[in-house]
Amino acid sequence: MKIIVTGGAGFIGSAVVRHIIENTVDQVLVLDSLTYAGNLASLKTVNKDSRFSFSKTDITDKAAVMEQINAFQPDVIMHLAAESHVDRSIDGPTDFIHTNIIGTFTLLEAARNFYDKLPASKQAQFRFHHISTDEVYGDLEGTTDLFTEETPYAPSSPYSASKASSDHLVRAWHRTYGLPVVITNCSNNYGPYHFPEKLIPLVILNALAGKALPVYGNGQQIRDWLYVEDHARALYLVATQAEIGETYNIGGHNEKKNIEVVEAICHLLDELQPADKKYSDLITYVNDRPGHDLRYAIDAEKIHADLGWKPIETFESGLRKTVEWYLNNNEWVNDVKSGAYMSWVEKNYEGRK
Ligand code: NAD
Ligand code: DAU
Repeated sequence: MKIIVTGGAGFIGSAVVRHIIENTVDQVLVLDSLTYAGNLASLKTVNKDSRFSFSKTDITDKAAVMEQINAFQPDVIMHLAAESHVDRSIDGPTDFIHTNIIGTFTLLEAARNFYDKLPASKQAQFRFHHISTDEVYGDLEGTTDLFTEETPYAPSSPYSASKASSDHLVRAWHRTYGLPVVITNCSNNYGPYHFPEKLIPLVILNALAGKALPVYGNGQQIRDWLYVEDHARALYLVATQAEIGETYNIGGHNEKKNIEVVEAICHLLDELQPADKKYSDLITYVNDRPGHDLRYAIDAEKIHADLGWKPIETFESGLRKTVEWYLNNNEWVNDVKSGAYMSWVEKNYEGRK
């Protein structure tokens, strides 16, 4: 098959591309505008493969997107390109509205234009796979409920509202125009190549640098963590095997409080890279995120029942692999730490003290 992956230079997109190139015979074209979060260094294990190609393309640029789609003639489009960081969306929502909503709209229109002209045999194969988040369902505070595919949407942040909006557009393009779509909503990913503005890589790298480990509010917020390679495997299954029109929730069965996650990283670093003091001495409680959702948790039974997917990594095995990866991949870390990265993360921390 020929698969377009938008956002393929980002954290999850690059894991999807590595998964496809390493485990299938498919061809991949990455469309990515290389924002601060996209980096070709995340694709260097696959970029010499003749089945891999890359185009620096902004998904909000319809002419450029149409040109790439028409030239590549994809069987599947996996759409991951997005602005993805909640704190940045609070600081400045404009890019989130532009990329996540207008960008998805632009891509849907380009895909519809392409799909409508395909012969019936090719139309039967074509899929548009929209990759979304569990944050569209809002906050599970005060309950033991899990998010199912039937949970009503109730997004809290500019980021999650923009993702919810994009999900609605994708469903509308299916119902109104017959575009063959599938949608997935996943919980918090972690693993190699994760941009160090998100909790787990930020804590690992700050600890190694002897800097404060910022814990928002009281650290009691709960996330359901999934190792990124388990997610990539699930996404390929859905993109290639799910029934058209289906939605799947994907999660790790790993509900952890933020403070537990930070302490687990500190323990691993105490073992793997001992310092003079315990790393947990660096934990610093700072002002909370506005509108902070207290708990997310996924019921991933449907994807297990329909497609036989379940995660391979436990939180313990996945976190150890992740910490080891950051200890062994200084070059990647230095590559992605551009001036833009440094200034925003430092500003965010200063504002919370
Ligand atoms: P990321 O921020 O690491 O990567 C996003 C990628 O999109 C980057 O390579 C960036 O350059 C690219 N991009 C941004 N704007 C673009 C534009 N206008 N045109 C083309 N490319 C553009 O994000 P991620 O964590 O890998 O998330 C990927 C997708 O998965 C997102 O849609 C996100 O909402 C969703 N998701 C993420 C998580 C998570 O825990 N990280 C969980 C569930 C769902
Ligand atoms: O649930 C899926 C979502 O998970 C994805 O859709 C998002 O793209 C992804 O960024 C992630 O969102 P979160 O806001 O949950 O991830 P983040 O790593 O930013 O924060 C995880 C938790 O840790 C959250 O409760 C906020 C908290 N936190 C975060 C940072 C960066 C801290 O306590 N300190 C920090 O410095």
